[in-house]
Amino acid sequence: MQHTENVLLHASHISKQFGGLSALSNVTLHIQRNEIYGLIGPNGAGKTTLFNVLTGLYQPSEGEFQFNGTHYQAGKPHVLAQAGIARTFQNIRLFANLTALENVMIGRHVRTRAGVFGALLHNRATRNEEYAITERARELLHYVGISKPAQTLAKHLSYGEQRRLEIARALATDPLLLALDEPAAGMNSTETKSLKKLLQTIRAGGITVLLIEHDVKLIMGLCDRVAVLDYGKKIAEGVPEEVRQNPAVISAYLGGGDE
Ligand SMILES: Nc1ncnc2c1ncn2[C@@H]1O[C@H](COP(=O)(O)OP(=O)(O)O)[C@@H](O)[C@H]1O
Ligand SMILES: [Mg+2]
Repeated sequence: MQHTENVLLHASHISKQFGGLSALSNVTLHIQRNEIYGLIGPNGAGKTTLFNVLTGLYQPSEGEFQFNGTHYQAGKPHVLAQAGIARTFQNIRLFANLTALENVMIGRHVRTRAGVFGALLHNRATRNEEYAITERARELLHYVGISKPAQTLAKHLSYGEQRRLEIARALATDPLLLALDEPAAGMNSTETKSLKKLLQTIRAGGITVLLIEHDVKLIMGLCDRVAVLDYGKKIAEGVPEEVRQNPAVISAYLGGGDE
């Protein structure tokens, strides 16, 4: 265990039941500041459920977590967003008929005084703030490598660009932790490579990254540490090289049927 001030997120004994199904049992892990932490596991292992607990979407049946020094039994998504956790979803969730720019601006409103309603009302007090938000959103589009005009509707972006747009929207909240649920799913190998570069750039900019992936190769080549979930339990954790050789991990993946 590292020095506590280096720990950004510490989840303790998290369990989550859905009816009779135990989706997570007694999962404990910590994420250090400025690391890229990977979470892998076969389909149905509980990765998204853990993610949803840590981002406040689900209330855990048991356990608690600490984020940036504050304890949470369960958070609300907006509370954790304000605390500095930004996430993307396993399935793309963009406003398809809004522009790329508008999609990013919506992310930014977590941090503004006027909030989304002020922006909709467009009163004078919010106008300067709007200008700053627009500029910041443009920068973020550039940062994540979207080369199409900012006014392009989200639905007219390629799949890889839509994934990048989601990341830009998450970054617009100025997070301490960027949490990504299978960002490489459905990407071709060129898109995956550039995603990997982008995540390295984001980390170099001082943001901690939690990455859930199905693509074991991507995780192994990118993460500082990796945890493996299987049937809701953490079965391994360590640097990629250790985890790759762990017999329990090998058997979870080989025994996983469709994996
Ligand atoms: N909202 C839910 N209601 C009931 N069961 C769920 C729900 N979400 C997930 N599960 C179940 O919990 C288990 C873990 O799912 P999930 O966290 O999505 O796994 P992963 O993301 O690793 O594929 C699965 O058996 C899944 O069917
Ligand atoms: Mg999932």
